[in-house]
Amino acid sequence: MPTITPEIWDELHDRAREAMTRAYVPYSRFPVGVAALVDDGRIVTGANIENASYGVGLCAECSLVSDLIMSGGGSLVAFVCVDGDGGTLMPCGRCRQLLFEHSADGMLLKTLSGIRTIDEVLPDAFGPRTLRAYQDSH
Ligand code: THU
Repeated sequence: MPTITPEIWDELHDRAREAMTRAYVPYSRFPVGVAALVDDGRIVTGANIENASYGVGLCAECSLVSDLIMSGGGSLVAFVCVDGDGGTLMPCGRCRQLLFEHSADGMLLKTLSGIRTIDEVLPDAFGPRTLRAYQDSH
C-alpha cells in the first residue's frame, strides 16, 4: 500500500469536486462526485447519473467503477466522495460493496470521521473471496 500524502488527498478531493460538476441530477438535485487513486497511479472519477425511472439511477461510484474497468482495470487504493458543496460525503452502503469488489488490501477512504480503511466501513464484507471459498469446498 503506497503512502497517501496530504497532496494526494487534496488532488483526489479536487478531482472529485470537478467530477461532481458533471453530475446529472434533475430529480434529487443532489450532485455527487468521486475520485480514486488506482494501484498503478491512475486517478479515476465518477458522478451520479439519475433516470426518470428513479430506481435505475446510477450512484457516482458506479460511474467510477466503469471508468476503472474501461481505462484498464486495477485496484483502488484511496477514495474520496463529495457532495454538491464539495464537502466530504460517506458512500452509501451499496457503493461500499461496489468499492470493496475493486479494493486493494487496506484501501483508504476519506470519511466524516477521518481516514478509514475499507474493512472499517464494510466489516466482515461479502465478496469474491466468499464465493471462492465456497466453490473450493464443493
Ligand atoms: N448518491 C451517490 O451518487 N453516491 C452515494 O454514495 C450516495 C448517494 C446519489 C444517488 C442519488 O443520485 C443522489 O445521491 C441522492 O440520493
